[in-house]
This record gives sequence, structure tokens and C-alpha cells, in this order.
Amino acid sequence: MKIAILTSGGDAPGMNVAIRAAVRYGIKKGHEIYGVYSGYVGLIKGDFVKLDHKRMSGIISMGGTFLKTARLEEFKDAKFQEKAVENLKKKGIEGLIVIGGDGSYRGALALHNLGVKVVTIPGTIDNDIYGTDYTLGFHTALDTIVSAMDKLRDTSVSHQRCSIIEVMGRNCGDLALYAAISGGAEILVTPEHKLSKEDIIASLTQYKKEDRTHAIVVVTEHQMDVFEFAKEITEKSKFTSVATILGYVQRGGSPSAQDRILGTRMGAYAIDLFDQKISGVAIGIENDRLVYLPIGVVINNKRPVNPLYKLVTEVS
Ligand code: F6P
Repeated sequence: MKIAILTSGGDAPGMNVAIRAAVRYGIKKGHEIYGVYSGYVGLIKGDFVKLDHKRMSGIISMGGTFLKTARLEEFKDAKFQEKAVENLKKKGIEGLIVIGGDGSYRGALALHNLGVKVVTIPGTIDNDIYGTDYTLGFHTALDTIVSAMDKLRDTSVSHQRCSIIEVMGRNCGDLALYAAISGGAEILVTPEHKLSKEDIIASLTQYKKEDRTHAIVVVTEHQMDVFEFAKEITEKSKFTSVATILGYVQRGGSPSAQDRILGTRMGAYAIDLFDQKISGVAIGIENDRLVYLPIGVVINNKRPVNPLYKLVTEVS
């Protein structure tokens, strides 16, 4: 069978690893594997490249995605979806592996409804996809954040300051939550765990009274203007505060060992699913077992709130 593979949405470390596994294992299982450049953009343009074992050499340690990625709002439009199907048919490609996040899954479902055999792999640093404990790239981004937090702590301790650190995650607080636990943050603000500015200032004022000399506040993006809030904390509590937005550095870097294993397992599993004649599904990992659910179910459900939240306050 001819199978194409694309990466879409925000890049995530581990995307290359999943491509490598699907290509090498897929070829061993007798398939022809094609890469599509720039996600759905390449699908509409017919920008395909045949992939072989050798082309995969050396990409296991590379962050980003060598196939490039894009966000394409217009792919909601039926005429673009039909063009994509036409281009796949012209090449005789029956199967499609989509590696990406929520938005990419919507495009994948549309193609599945038009008769393309689609399997998706969760690739996003945000860890915001239903039906999987972890998404590809989450652990690498987390490691990047924790190493930045360790550096910020050094300077916070030295200057006796409060450090506010804004991390990515879009509408999901998992990066902030896991970073707060791993990086020893005192206070955590996420979409699932909102705290009022007054409550945060009250806690920091109390810390000062208790003679605590530094503090770390981790905040998921889009929750507040962290620079303004740092000024407010400095004015209202006795804690001098500074803010840092970690930004796109969180999306880059060589995938961690955990993401390499996850990417390799998921990439090979996608091929196994095609061989079992299973498609229209999203791959996930639950309790270290690979699983799959219909793409529609994954899109229409939200992940339950993470039970680890209470740990942050218990140890702060
Ligand atoms: O989905 C991954 C992510 O990095 C989010 O954490 C962030 O909100 C968003 O992408 C940024 O997207 P863009 O690259 O389009 O600015």
C-alpha cells in the first residue's frame, strides 16, 4: 500500500522520530512511504517526496520536523479537502499518517470522511489531546522548561526575588503543572487552576513574613500579562518580582529519550494499524500501552483535569 505522512500545526520534538519509524518499518512491511511537505499545504499542492531508509538517517536526534509544518485554517473549506484527496488519488496513495495536534486532527477527520485511510499521531508540546497520557514533544519541552527554571532560580535566590515564568500550553496547563512540580515552584496558575492576582499577592506577602527569600510562580500563557503582574507584585508585596516568557525555545531541541521511544512506538504502530485494516483512528499511549480511538471521539472530548494538581500545594 502507498502511505503518505505529514506533520502539521506547531512543530514538536519527536516528530522526526515518528516519521523515521513509520518509514523504516513501513518499507520492511512492504509499503511505499511518501512524505508531504508543509502539512496540509503540501497536500493541496501535491508536494510529495518518496522516502527511503537512507533519507531517515541521522534524523532521530533532530528537533522540529524535516517535512516542515504549517497551520492552514483554510483546510476547513471542502474545496481544499477535495483537492487533497484528488492529489493523493493521483499518486495512488491510500493511507495517510497525520502527526499534529487538535487542529490537525480536524483536517484528518475531514479526509477520513472523504474515504482516505487516516491514522493520527499526537504531536504537540501542549499535551492537550484526549485519549493519550502524553503527546510527542511534551517531555522534551518539559525538560527545556525545567532547565530554564533551574537557571532562573539561581538568579532569583541570589537577588532574593520572585520569578514569574510563563510557559506554553495554549489551553492546557500540563506543561506548567509538570514544570511546577519538577522545578519546585511555589505557585502555579493554569487554565484548569486559576488563582486570583490578590490571592497570589497575599501568598507572596505571607512568604516574605515567613522569611522565605525567593519564590517561583509558573503561569500558562494567555492567563495574564506577566510583566504587568510582576510590577504589581513588587508594588503590593515586599517581593521584588521579575517576569520571563520562555516562548518558542520550548518547541525546539533534540527530542528526549522518552520522546524518541514514544515517537518510535507510535510511528511503527501506525503501520501495524494499516496492516490490520484499521483507520480513522488516533493513536495514544495509556499506562504505557499503545491504544487507539476514533478521531471524532478524540476531537470531541476534553482531557480530565490532571490529578497531580494537589501535589503542587502539598509540597510548596
Ligand atoms: O501548540 C503548540 C504551541 O506551541 C502552543 O503552546 C502555542 O500556544 C502555539 O503553539 C503557538 O503557535 P504559533 O507557532 O502559531 O505561534
